[in-house]
Amino acid sequence: MAKLRVDVGDGPLSAEYGRLLRTALRRGEGDPEAVLAKATLVGDYSPEILAIARDTWLRRMLHEHHSATIFSNLLPQLMEAEVSLDVKAVTLRMAMDELRHATLCAGMVRLLGGEPELEANLHTDPLPTHADATRFEAALRNALFAGLSETVALALLTQERELATEPAARAVLTQLAGDEVLHAKLGWGLLNDARDLLDADGWARLERYLPIALGTLEARMHEAMPLGKPRTDEELDALDALGAMESREGRTLFARTMQDVVLPRLEAAGLAAREAWRLRRPSQEA
Ligand SMILES: [Fe+2]
Ligand SMILES: [Fe+2]
Repeated sequence: MAKLRVDVGDGPLSAEYGRLLRTALRRGEGDPEAVLAKATLVGDYSPEILAIARDTWLRRMLHEHHSATIFSNLLPQLMEAEVSLDVKAVTLRMAMDELRHATLCAGMVRLLGGEPELEANLHTDPLPTHADATRFEAALRNALFAGLSETVALALLTQERELATEPAARAVLTQLAGDEVLHAKLGWGLLNDARDLLDADGWARLERYLPIALGTLEARMHEAMPLGKPRTDEELDALDALGAMESREGRTLFARTMQDVVLPRLEAAGLAAREAWRLRRPSQEA
C-alpha cells in the first residue's frame, strides 16, 4: 500500500502543466479549476451525506488516476498496430485528461471538507497482450474495452451533471463528461477500422473476446459502485446535488446504458453483442 496524492507541484514542469490546462486540455469556456478555487457549498448537508459524497469523490480520484495508465500503456500497442499518428498522439492527451480528472476529484474532496489523500495499492499492471490476437487485434481489444468503459462513464457523468446543483460539482462533471466523449471515440473508431482490416478469422476472434469484455466491464463497474445501506429520497437528492449518485442508481443506469446504447452500437458494428452479453463472464485477461 502507498499514499496517493494528486496535488500539482511547484517544480520546473508545473508552469507547463498550467499552460496545458489553458490550451491543449481546455474544453470550451469551462475552467473547472478556477470554479473549484473559489467554490463554497451552496446547500446544507448532514455530516453523514458529506462523508458519503467525500468517499465517492475520493474513490473517483483513485480511479481517474489509474485510468491514465490505460491510455499511456495503449501507446506501445498502438505503435505496433500501425495506426495513424493522430490516434497515437490523442491517446496520450487522454492519459493527461485522466490525470487532470484525478486533481478535479481531489478538489471536490476538499470542497466537501476532506483531505484528498488515500492509502491504496498503486501497483499498475500492463495491458493484456491477448496471445490469440494479431497486434492490431490486441490494440483493438484494449482500446474497445476502454471505449466501452468510457461510454458507460459518459452516461453516468451526464446524468450526475443533470442532477447536481452545486456549481463546483457541475463544473467538474461537465469537464469529465466532455473529455469522456473524446475518450470513447478511440475504441469505437478502431472498431470501425476493424471492419476493413480484419479477415473472417480475426472477426471471429473478436466475437469470442466480447463476452469476456462485457463480463469484465460489468464486474469492474459493480466493484466501483459498492452498495451501502438504502437511502431515503431526501438523502438521494442530497447526494445527487453533490454529484455523487448513489451506487444502486448507478448500477441501474449502467444496466440501462448497456441495453440502450452499448449493445445496439456493437450490433450496428456487426458484432453479436446481445448474445455476448448473455454469455458474459469476467476475466483477468480482458
Ligand atoms: Fe476520466
Ligand atoms: Fe476517460
